[in-house]
Amino acid sequence: MRIKRWIATGAVAIATVGALNTLPASAGRPYNPADQSLRNLGLRHDLYIGTAVDMAALNDAADPRYRELVASQFSTVTAENVMKWESLEPTRGTYDWAPADELLAFAQQNNQRVRGHVLVWQNQLPGWLTTGVEDGSISTEQLRDILRNHITTVVKHFKGRIWQWDVVNEAVSDPWDSPSTLHYKGFWAQHLGPDYIADAFRWARAADPKALLFYNDYNIEAFGSGDPADDKTQFVYDMAKNLLAQRVPIDGVGSQGHLGTQYGNYDTLQVAAALKKFAGLGLATAFTEVDVRSQLTEAVRNGDSNEINPRLQASAANYSVLLQACLADRHCLSFTVWGFTDKHSWVPDWFGNEGMANIYDENYQPKRAYHLMKADLIYAGPPYVLPRIAQKPRR
Ligand code: XIL
Repeated sequence: MRIKRWIATGAVAIATVGALNTLPASAGRPYNPADQSLRNLGLRHDLYIGTAVDMAALNDAADPRYRELVASQFSTVTAENVMKWESLEPTRGTYDWAPADELLAFAQQNNQRVRGHVLVWQNQLPGWLTTGVEDGSISTEQLRDILRNHITTVVKHFKGRIWQWDVVNEAVSDPWDSPSTLHYKGFWAQHLGPDYIADAFRWARAADPKALLFYNDYNIEAFGSGDPADDKTQFVYDMAKNLLAQRVPIDGVGSQGHLGTQYGNYDTLQVAAALKKFAGLGLATAFTEVDVRSQLTEAVRNGDSNEINPRLQASAANYSVLLQACLADRHCLSFTVWGFTDKHSWVPDWFGNEGMANIYDENYQPKRAYHLMKADLIYAGPPYVLPRIAQKPRR
């Protein structure tokens, strides 16, 4: 279950957005029995199937298959990087909207909804911001203003075009951090204290009354001990409950779903139980960044099928656990994979000797995980799998 601590290191854009969250999922593109794509099969359940999009790959004329598959297989997209603070505002006061706007235009053309990622996170912040805080030229009070400004500017820029926003990302520590008792971690908690979380949701809501506002994190697929000192899912659950008690406009919890086949992982019923608990608070849920990586031993690298096959199967099984659990909960609105091909994946870069995490291989051949997801979508229906219930943005 332990994942590498990378953190420490480091709607479619429809014109009539008014009804975005209340439209039936099939609006704009009816279910077509002849179409076996993931996006079309998801429509039967009103479940949006998504992918993170790497803009360089999307624009690579030499690699047209990437673009074709983003368009044909997915009904929602997330910017893998271009909506992060360092990309949007590399120089203080100068925003570069072009790549993100390009993705939104692509989504509109292809009848896809957009998950906005990400407003507040301790990673991929621009140098001017972190340096300014370090050298004291940005005071705490100024930092709070900068954050409010950023959220307001970004949410207003994309207003009406974003279905779900990841407002706050990865705010909670892991048991392997120090201290090991779970706590609010990272740049924002250190400098502003944990209240920045409630502020961020309120500022985002003020800037766009219709987008769904999510808290997003990893290692919250299932409950563990139930003790918020060492159970991250419980910690996040308590946080969400608290925010709601303070009338903070949080609409959903995103479970990233970065898994590895070398760990124990979960079964479907455990994951479904966790989604149900969050729904019990009146929150929507979503899987937001699913990938299931494996260790690349020498034998794997040499093409030894004795080592490759079990990895492909375990990876597929884990995708299926998360997808089935999501299908089974009517408040689980979307299932997004963090890249769809091993050709363009963050995993080898971040985890070193790990890979094979995606549902297509590097030659765009669908893997077992793809086929199993497809089967899960096909063989699901009443009474256990029912259409999604639209989430209304909280005031
Ligand atoms: C990753 C991207 O995939 C990489 O390209 C980038 O270099 C680092 O960030 N959790 C998140 C995502 O919320 O934004 C991260 O994306 C993966 C972990």
